Amino acid sequence: MQEVQLIRLIYLSRVWGNMTNTQLDQILADSRENNRQRKITGLLFYGGTSFIQILEGPESEVIKLYSQILEDERHHGCRILDIHITDKRVFENWAMAYVHSSKDDFEELSAVLTGRIKKHQQASHELASLLRKYLGKKIELI
Ligand SMILES: Cc1cc2nc3c(=O)[nH]c(=O)nc-3n(C[C@H](O)[C@H](O)[C@H](O)COP(=O)(O)O)c2cc1C
Repeated sequence: MQEVQLIRLIYLSRVWGNMTNTQLDQILADSRENNRQRKITGLLFYGGTSFIQILEGPESEVIKLYSQILEDERHHGCRILDIHITDKRVFENWAMAYVHSSKDDFEELSAVLTGRIKKHQQASHELASLLRKYLGKKIELI
């Protein structure tokens, strides 16, 4: 499917306390339903105290969703790590993949992502292979 102006947005946020499984399940269920309709795909990475989320899809839809996510009181301190135009989805089959990681894995991913982005070295395929390393560990596919 040819899409105009596909973008990928990656942000980091903090949770207020511990998220219960029920709260996480609710976010995922809503996300998957909405994202399918909005042609948004991506990954939610949860590390106990923080989220990293990757959203990819049509520019207007991703921006609209991110502005809703910013207002969401279940988390705070949203900070965009990267946003770029792309012509290929990394998560094309996942309305919202989910990884619940250990704190250490989360910190590692966060450091790598932040470091790479700072150096402007990340290409989509590099990011994809990096993430697949984590996705292989524990992931819910839809
Ligand atoms: C960490 C986090 C990630 C979220 N990701 C998504 C998402 O990918 N898609 C989505 O529709 N809502 C997501 N939400 C929920 C939105 O903030 C918001 O509640 C939802 O889009 C509102 O949907 P509604 O208009 O159907 O009520 C997320 C919330 C949090 C806290």
